[in-house]
Amino acid sequence: MIKYFRFIFIFSSLFLVGCSTTKKTAPINSTVPSLKEIFKNDFVIGTAMDTQQILGKDKSADKLIQQQFNAVTPENMMKAEVIHPGWNEYNFHYADMLVAFAAKNNIKVNAHTLIWHSQLPAYMQHNQDADSVKQYFENHISTVASRYDGKVYSWDVVNEALNEDGTLRNSIFLQKLGPDYIVDAFRLAQKASPHSKLYYNDYNIEQPQKRAGAIALIKKIQAAGVRIDGVGIQGHWNINNLPLKNIEESIKAFNALGIEVMFTELDISVLKNPWDNNTADISATAKGNAAMNPYKKNLPDSIQTKLTKAYSDLFTLFMKYKKDISRITFWGVDDGQSWLNNWPIAGRTNYPLLFDRNFKPKPAFYSVIATASKQ
Ligand code: G3I
Repeated sequence: MIKYFRFIFIFSSLFLVGCSTTKKTAPINSTVPSLKEIFKNDFVIGTAMDTQQILGKDKSADKLIQQQFNAVTPENMMKAEVIHPGWNEYNFHYADMLVAFAAKNNIKVNAHTLIWHSQLPAYMQHNQDADSVKQYFENHISTVASRYDGKVYSWDVVNEALNEDGTLRNSIFLQKLGPDYIVDAFRLAQKASPHSKLYYNDYNIEQPQKRAGAIALIKKIQAAGVRIDGVGIQGHWNINNLPLKNIEESIKAFNALGIEVMFTELDISVLKNPWDNNTADISATAKGNAAMNPYKKNLPDSIQTKLTKAYSDLFTLFMKYKKDISRITFWGVDDGQSWLNNWPIAGRTNYPLLFDRNFKPKPAFYSVIATASKQ
């Protein structure tokens, strides 16, 4: 078996050397192993789905989703600015399509996200009126969560409420509703959506200080007698900074709270960010130059190898804790879809996922598959 994987690995590495970075429509090779099959006894395997894919305008990606994944997270279409564009106006068009696609293909939906300081509709972005923020908060959660109750497997109820030091982010919700707003969000979601799981989701919560903040938050929700079913560690990492020790400690620490632990937005950037840290704060942007976009044409073998090893190390760890991890979701299907091509610097060429821009599995894909056969 291992010989088989090695053969595919070498063969695909050779093939990949010649691949360009332009996106094409390519037939999906059905002899490629399927992540959801390989890991079916270990964890659910998800991907973020974008609007093009939902509209059926990215057929190669759609085929790959059906072949490889048994969970999807809407990358943008269930965010407040899209789904709740006016005070009394909701747009469920894309979310309904996503739910129908998932039902048809036996895929679980993790709905993302009810309460997030970012991507708020325009009428909420600078709202100074506490009563109005409270009304929005209650209406939004009740209306959106109840529509999809039981139709989505789970909700990221609150997203990114913490600062790096573990304190609460100074968001519009903290300012206008006070520090109990997170417990209140889960309480409202529990009422509106009794048949879907409820999660807290954030980046860098594997880091000790921020992790301590997340643990305090989860304990506070539990102490209030409100349901929280799991925690999502987003997993936006970098080949030069893969925090394996902190990830391992976090799996243990969150698992000790008696809730599900998930990796919900996994990608491994091969490009530097200007601050040399791991952040996914969408408001932190920078101007680029050619030096900051070094792999415009293709990825050098040495970096491909580094990425492959990073994914192998990560999934070796995930497999060690497979009993404690319920889901691993990649933040996109193929490299061309990744938000990391446009953040923190617009217009770069990044390679953070398991499938390349032609939807071909990368060496990293086979290194992930190989971790299953080792256990
Ligand atoms: O839809 C508009 C389009 O009409 C417009 O022409 C275009 C011009 O800028 O913008 C489009 O919206 C973009 C949207 O993605 C859809 O493509 C926004 O500008 C852009 O900011 C937005 O980025 C998303 C980002 O969240 C902010 O919502 C990324 O795709 C998405 O991957 C990213 O996902 C977040 C998670 O939700 C939370 N954790 C971090 C993660 C990465 O930032």
